Amino acid sequence: MKISLKQLSKDFKNLSEKQVTIQGWIKTNRNQKEFGFINLNDGSTLSNIQIVYDKSLLNFEEVSKLGVGCSLTVSGRLVLTPKARQLYEIKATEVLLEGDSPETFPIQPKKHSREFLREVAHLRPRTNLFNATFRVRSLLAYAIHDFFIKRDFIYVHTPIITASDAEGAGEMFRVTTLDLEKLPKDKEGKIDYSKDFFGKSTNLTVSGQLEAEIYAMAFKNVYTFGPTFRAENSNTPRHASEFWMIEPEMAFADLEDDMNLVEDMIKYVISYILENAKEELEFFDKFVYPGKIKQLEELVNSKILVCEYRNAIEILQDSNYKFENRIKFGDDLATEHEKYLTDIHFKSPVFVVNWPKDIKAFYMRLNDDGETVAAVDLLVPGSGELVGGSQREERLDKLIKRMEEMKVPTEEMQWYLDLRRYGGTKHAGFGLGFERLIMYVTGLENIRDVIPFPRTPKNCEY
Ligand code: 4AD
Ligand code: MG
Repeated sequence: MKISLKQLSKDFKNLSEKQVTIQGWIKTNRNQKEFGFINLNDGSTLSNIQIVYDKSLLNFEEVSKLGVGCSLTVSGRLVLTPKARQLYEIKATEVLLEGDSPETFPIQPKKHSREFLREVAHLRPRTNLFNATFRVRSLLAYAIHDFFIKRDFIYVHTPIITASDAEGAGEMFRVTTLDLEKLPKDKEGKIDYSKDFFGKSTNLTVSGQLEAEIYAMAFKNVYTFGPTFRAENSNTPRHASEFWMIEPEMAFADLEDDMNLVEDMIKYVISYILENAKEELEFFDKFVYPGKIKQLEELVNSKILVCEYRNAIEILQDSNYKFENRIKFGDDLATEHEKYLTDIHFKSPVFVVNWPKDIKAFYMRLNDDGETVAAVDLLVPGSGELVGGSQREERLDKLIKRMEEMKVPTEEMQWYLDLRRYGGTKHAGFGLGFERLIMYVTGLENIRDVIPFPRTPKNCEY
């Protein structure tokens, strides 16, 4: 019977002394004249299984020479070994080599730097670190859907190719079929996008929010979860050009409802991981970020702090810490400021609320002070800004004024204004960067290590 190592770890007592077949890749192979031990992993769990083989194998000589990385089909008897480090092992009766792996295999059993492993991103999933990381990524994605579906949110697929700039920041990758060598020009000498595939200028989406707002005005509570793209040239450990974002949007909701949703969601998915990825979290706690499990448990069991943007600026100004850049009201927080707030001052995640309108997007609701908007960023130790959200401007006149001030084209966005013209409600939502969440949960410091195929400036392999 073919069985995965994961299934075996659940069923091993019932399978004692039974014949089983497993398939996987060699982690180590140690042997002596008469017998040997192979540690095999099939990717279904972090733990390897030990295979014991001896001269009774017809191909003993061949097997004893097999190196790290070879793929095998192994049949044998499952033997319980309660006194040993592992609870059970397999006494091999047949070892079939599926694919050889010579000594040039780059992932030998020793410590490799993460930088090196990024260069062999097609082989790094076979390391323990990435085995754990990408299983956690998969489980987190599942837990997120589970959270929203349990709360009757509708999952909306917002477009990847779009003609709008949801954030109004212009950081977009263009989508075109025009011949870049021979661009069609109009009378004024500008590129004539009417000749392009869609008859207009289009780009990859930076956010599904605006389209999610459309669906919130019909389904009340919705969310998107998909890839987003940003052509910002920031080469940092926390920015990717292609990343996944979770964006819920709720009708009849204000900023407080929004923050409650952020908090409930984060606690739900982290509890899910604490419960369902114990082995992986123990690995991260031991090898990547000592204290990670305790930190996650504390988050789940405490209320996330809230700090007004205005107060955050005062805290930063009053501290004796030597920042590279002095900060004043109206400035965005740099990484060093976020770090100070989460790692030194609050020593915990913190919501920063009510930001100056000039450093935030056009759709955020203007507060009564006329100076700030109902926006929230959740900052967490390690990953910095994990969530950005806001209550949206539902008042048509105020929204149009703001769009004009910020030079957002109102002509092409009549559909967005229609949402305010016809049965508009107050509403709010947020965007959570999926990779930043994985960084926080695992303790990994570089976004390139939590996404299978990272895309960053000057880097697009595979
Ligand atoms: O703060 P941002 O730009 O907000 C929006 O896009 C809103 N439309 C969200 C909404 O209200 N529906 O991005 C949201 C989150 C950030 O907090 C961050 O976690 C992540 O997306 N993010 C990135 N993650 C990786 N690489 C990048 N270049 C990112 N830019 C933003
Ligand atoms: Mg933001």
